[in-house]
Amino acid sequence: MSVSEIPETTRAPLASGVSAVGVSRRFGSVHAVEQMDFEAPAGRVTALIGPNGAGKTTLLLMLASLLQPDSGTITVDGLDPAKDSAAVRRRLGWMPDTLGVWESLTAREILVQMARFYRLPKAGIDARVAELLALVRLEELADQPARVLSKGQQQRLSLARALVHDPSVLLLDEPAAGLDPGSRVELRTLLRNLAAAGKSIVVSSHVLSELDEIADGAVFVNQGRTVKQQTIEEAAQQGRRYAITALDPAALAAKLTELGLEFKAGSGRRPSVSLLLSHDDGAAALLRDLVTAGIAVVSFGPASGALEETYMSLETERK
Ligand SMILES: Nc1ncnc2c1ncn2[C@@H]1O[C@H](COP(=O)(O)OP(=O)(O)OP(=O)(O)O)[C@@H](O)[C@H]1O
Ligand SMILES: [Mg+2]
Repeated sequence: MSVSEIPETTRAPLASGVSAVGVSRRFGSVHAVEQMDFEAPAGRVTALIGPNGAGKTTLLLMLASLLQPDSGTITVDGLDPAKDSAAVRRRLGWMPDTLGVWESLTAREILVQMARFYRLPKAGIDARVAELLALVRLEELADQPARVLSKGQQQRLSLARALVHDPSVLLLDEPAAGLDPGSRVELRTLLRNLAAAGKSIVVSSHVLSELDEIADGAVFVNQGRTVKQQTIEEAAQQGRRYAITALDPAALAAKLTELGLEFKAGSGRRPSVSLLLSHDDGAAALLRDLVTAGIAVVSFGPASGALEETYMSLETERK
């Protein structure tokens, strides 16, 4: 059930984590966010998914109390950012999609400044900064101006900056952008650990295959509106497209036709077919049938992630 289907009266703001109900924000004539609903409970990683211009960054800025909504209700750990912005900012870490105006300072200076800004006890600042530099593997570059850091290194610094004051809510705008595969795995592990420690994590991203591994739930937005909210379990329960390749593609196609299954020829480099299967058991049964029938199956697996499947189905609904 999507939040928009829940009757207004039964929706209470979350005591911990983030929630937004009916939030709108315009820029001139552009309705960047319109009546958006969003929930990110504590202890979970929530993905914010939508195409370019959907309103993700605008929503995150409002959740971070950096932009005022025109209407609607936002709560962060039960507090209203408009009324209690200082308390909200103490609880909240924000990682924007660029490092911004800090680039002439060194990585270490940026983190020290941030620690002072959050009034961390003076005696503990150097140790906290060293801990964060180690966490994002920037010790060797700590005393270089941030502008010389590569895009991925800047992203890691930006993440460390968001974590300085050990916030209970973490809002990350495209945190995996520009990260190499190794750094992405590290980011995933870090975010899972933070969620396991009870923090509420919100991640916006376009890399849906990655979110399958990171997120517990997802909110899909488009044209400023919430289109769907679903947990990863729900996403995994729905039908999933599988890709199959065999040594003899013609024999594979003939067997699938005989089984009465609809399939498409794949568009990849190797000849493959893809078909929609409703559940994992269906996939297991089909693989068994193919192998029993003597088809030399070379590969058999999900062609897309669970969240990607939802994203594509929403795209199709719109057309
Ligand atoms: N400060 C602004 N002034 C005018 N229009 C804005 C402003 N900020 C955002 N918009 C518009 O609001 C809409 C939503 O923008 P937003 O940046 O929130 O999208 P997004 O989902 O983050 O997209 P992307 O995936 O490209 O990051 C866009 O049409 C954008 O042009
Ligand atoms: Mg954005």
